[in-house]
Amino acid sequence: MRDAKYDILFEPVAIGPHVAKNRFYQVPHCNGGGYRDPSAAAAMRGIKSEGGWGVIFTEQTEMHHTSEITPFIELRLWEDKDIPGLRRMSDAMKVHGALAGIQLAYSGINGPNFYTKEVPLAPSALPIRTFTNDPVQARALDRAAIKDLRRWFVNAAKRSKIAGFDLICLYGAHGFGIFQHFLSRATNQRTDEYGGSLENRSRFAREVVADIRDAVGDTTAITMRVSLDETIGELGFSNAEVREFVEMNADLPDLWDLAHGAWEDCSGPSRFKEEGAQELLVKGIRELSTRPVVGVGRFTSPDVMARMIRQGVLDFIGCARPSIADPFLPKKIEEGRIEDIRECIGCNMCITGDMTMSISRCTQNPTFMEEWRKGWHPERMNAKGDSQTVLVVGAGPAGLEATRALSVRGYDVTLAEATTTLGGRVARERLLPGLSAWGRVVDYRQYQISQRTNVETYFDSRLTADDVLAFGFEHVAIATGSHWRRDGVARQHVVPMPIDPAMTVFTPDDIMAKAHGELLAGKTVVVYDDDHYYMGGVMAEVMAKAGAKVILVTPSAYVSDWTRNTLEQGAIHVRLDDLGVDIRLNRGVTAIRAGEVETNCSYTGRRSAIGCDAVVMVASRLSEDALYNNLLARQADWADAGIKSVKIIGDAAAPAPIAWATYAGHRYARELDTPDIGDALPFRREVTQLEPA
Ligand SMILES: Cc1cc2nc3c(=O)[nH]c(=O)nc-3n(C[C@H](O)[C@H](O)[C@H](O)COP(=O)(O)O)c2cc1C
Ligand code: SF4
Repeated sequence: MRDAKYDILFEPVAIGPHVAKNRFYQVPHCNGGGYRDPSAAAAMRGIKSEGGWGVIFTEQTEMHHTSEITPFIELRLWEDKDIPGLRRMSDAMKVHGALAGIQLAYSGINGPNFYTKEVPLAPSALPIRTFTNDPVQARALDRAAIKDLRRWFVNAAKRSKIAGFDLICLYGAHGFGIFQHFLSRATNQRTDEYGGSLENRSRFAREVVADIRDAVGDTTAITMRVSLDETIGELGFSNAEVREFVEMNADLPDLWDLAHGAWEDCSGPSRFKEEGAQELLVKGIRELSTRPVVGVGRFTSPDVMARMIRQGVLDFIGCARPSIADPFLPKKIEEGRIEDIRECIGCNMCITGDMTMSISRCTQNPTFMEEWRKGWHPERMNAKGDSQTVLVVGAGPAGLEATRALSVRGYDVTLAEATTTLGGRVARERLLPGLSAWGRVVDYRQYQISQRTNVETYFDSRLTADDVLAFGFEHVAIATGSHWRRDGVARQHVVPMPIDPAMTVFTPDDIMAKAHGELLAGKTVVVYDDDHYYMGGVMAEVMAKAGAKVILVTPSAYVSDWTRNTLEQGAIHVRLDDLGVDIRLNRGVTAIRAGEVETNCSYTGRRSAIGCDAVVMVASRLSEDALYNNLLARQADWADAGIKSVKIIGDAAAPAPIAWATYAGHRYARELDTPDIGDALPFRREVTQLEPA
């Protein structure tokens, strides 16, 4: 059972007319599914209920059609028709006793209204502030429009109640919700009773809370989500003003939900933010109000959580990502199974589902958003099939997850690893600056595997097709990973670029193996990034820290372009700039010659040379698929060897981020010995219901 030092986390706490059964509070988080995938999103929340959370929220829910954030896919509560989908979600949240919360969002200056084609409304007439600088401006709400908006909030609150929610969160954080737009002098430049003094800027929040309380307050708690500091300088809603606001409106909501800054500040990746990073900003706010306070900070350590409560910093432990990586986090603490917690690694891959309007993935939890689509449960596997033995070749993220999940299903698994460590690429990448938390991908699985009697691990085992055929396992999963190309093939070059052997060219694998030694200190190094995720920026960081003069060349308009989807692109640029890295954007590399690289402008093609001593080539990766191909060539021998199937998974099949590898490993384990579904779709989906033509 649980350690008594964590008892404090399991105390019930009142929120308005309700009592949360414990202090574990899943703050609102989107999932890339939203209104398009209502059952998938509902089932995901249901799993959190089973996992023991005391409070579970939806993602932001667009509460009126005059404010929406297309292309992002969140929830909608525009009319009664939206209620059944939301009811499915609140029902799922409550099955195991959690309070169900809905976050109502009116996006004001953040809503371009591409879908509804309505004129955006905001406290002041300013350009819409979105990731994509949409060429749309908002009209300032006049008094009549403010009255309308108050009524729309009441309508949404009434619908929320009918949809079964116990809590309503008014969104005023991250620059996204209209309450912040009123509170901040940056977005509220009004001269009437809604602008100017903090008291005036708070008026709208006070009015809406009073309206909703009148309408549904007897049965529904109201929470208010604000950022601890808008982090945009003097005009912004600063931490000092947040404190003043809470003090001035001490009893306004039934709970204060304290988020932070813009979304990238609040959901800072582990590369840039530690667990509990907002502690100083949040400390002391609780004393300003009689209402309970929830705060966030990628909390995965029960000791840190308990300290937050004991020291009076927070009343509730708010979690988004930790609840995604491990929906059973509260239950595991309660059952004294701390070592079973699948800790979030802070990679922000979950956020990319929202940013790319797809459906979210989690690097640590491959079942995330597959609970309904595929019927995957994060803690339970399907029953074992007819066969018994599986050989997994390669102990990277795909091989480790396949091994773990297969062993839970009951197979006898032999894991063969060519090196002397588990983890594959993660074992190497966790040593890079800022990426140590990524090692949790290995640590979690290594521990889980160590607890099982049906897994045998062999190191120093670089297998050949003959070896595999001689062993005679029933099933073979090839998870042999990939390596970085040296020849420059990626997006700019689809065939190898001209490279003079007189120039030293390193790949990220060389740098991770420290093959560069002291070669680079004091030298000029060009890092060529045509990969566009994190590796190019990380390589530049390693080189700069090793004392090299680093010039980062990329055909993209942004350093580490794809990390805009993980909300860390800005932080990467700042870090490289701080390290003195010379960043050359919109430039490719056309040739590598002795003593220089020839670059070209991505638009005009105009060329110029950069003198350098070495190049770090961050291009693309090549699958390590020789063993698989050799086995395929020997398919005629499989039956005699007792082999029923050979499959290639993870980077060995096609290189991609680590989340793809854990997903591939998990999927392999789930699908082994299951019926062949032929050409059928391998997941469930919902199709929009047709109205009469
Ligand atoms: C995938 C994802 C989606 C999010 N969507 C929302 C949202 O819809 N509304 C909101 O207020 N915050 C949203 N957030 C922010 C979280 O609620 C939370 O404040 C932040 O991630 C910090 O908490 P954590 O460290 O526990 O993840 C989101 C965070 C993530 C990771
Ligand atoms: S994707 Fe990464 S950041 Fe998001 S919950 Fe999973 S491990 Fe954490």
